[in-house]
Amino acid sequence: MEEVRSSSLLRSTIINLMVDFYMKTILTGIRSNSVLTIGNYLGALLPMVRLANKHSKDSQINIFVPDLHSIIADIDGDLQSNVIRTLKYYLAAGLEINENVHIYRQSYVPAHSELCWILNCVATMGETSRMIQYKEKSKGQESCNVGIFDYPILMAADILLYDAAYVPIGEDQFQHIELTRNLAMRFNNRFGEIFTVPVKTEDQVKFMEVSEGIRIRDLLNPEKKMSKSTKAENSKIMLDDEPEKAAKKIMSATTDSLGKVKFDMFNQPGISNLLQIEALINDVPLQDVIGAWAGETRYGELKKKVAESVFNMLTDFQAKMAEISDEQIYKLLEDGEIYANKVANAKLLEAQKAFGLR
Ligand code: TRP
Repeated sequence: MEEVRSSSLLRSTIINLMVDFYMKTILTGIRSNSVLTIGNYLGALLPMVRLANKHSKDSQINIFVPDLHSIIADIDGDLQSNVIRTLKYYLAAGLEINENVHIYRQSYVPAHSELCWILNCVATMGETSRMIQYKEKSKGQESCNVGIFDYPILMAADILLYDAAYVPIGEDQFQHIELTRNLAMRFNNRFGEIFTVPVKTEDQVKFMEVSEGIRIRDLLNPEKKMSKSTKAENSKIMLDDEPEKAAKKIMSATTDSLGKVKFDMFNQPGISNLLQIEALINDVPLQDVIGAWAGETRYGELKKKVAESVFNMLTDFQAKMAEISDEQIYKLLEDGEIYANKVANAKLLEAQKAFGLR
């Protein structure tokens, strides 16, 4: 048994090396249940777009909207328009389209649901029940839907169908990547090398070129992550906020009474958050921003600068959003979904054969 395992480990290592050498697949998705905050934008969507642009000459870039994941929870307004708006976000953020960049909707590629079922029969209740997101989302809910429980298995299917080694994603999803790796290895052990095992989360982080997961904080309570579900308007900035109003929210952000600009997420989360926002908007390393503000004692100066950056970013972003038509998105989806179905169906067939379904 040990021998089988180690030779299979060796084989997956070799396969991953080959994936690196040849064309690798980078895959990511973001749920579209509502308008996003600048936290989702700066912390997830924009870094992904920058990464995609950097790699799209020599990698396949799959960007999809997990609409089946959306329906586990409430949706603000109409799902279809949310999906289209989310895809426009990627373009407005500067995603460069070429023949290696594929955009699609999960529910338009039925293989996702089918592989999810097959993986349901590989995953155990124990490991799936241990998922933190499931525990948090189901807590206190009398009748938690099964979709919330099965969420990470569908996510594993999303990834494994395309042999994606790299899945740039927020740190709240790391546990799901580890589960995906375990399912892929278990499947491969049983049936041979069918799936590419995504790289470990620490290597995902290296690939994303961030020192730690980026988390934009709540402006009023900077110990918490900025969240669209927070009631207080001044806690969050939405991507469709008026730029003027957004700048005011930065000016009224909670800071501290230590009186020196320093990056220290633990003792000065408010100030650190502003430094992080400044770095991300202007696409400069955080260390440079920290260096530029070292020694400053007037928080108002920093706030003014960040407010201006946010104002400019939103003005520019919203102008770009207005220029992108629905038709442009539907055209991209048409091509993307032909590609995705082709790749996903071929992989699904291998998994079906493994279980004797074909
Ligand atoms: N769970 C991700 C989120 O909440 C969305 C998602 C679903 C995803 N399937 C995925 C991300 C596969 C990356 C790969 O944001």
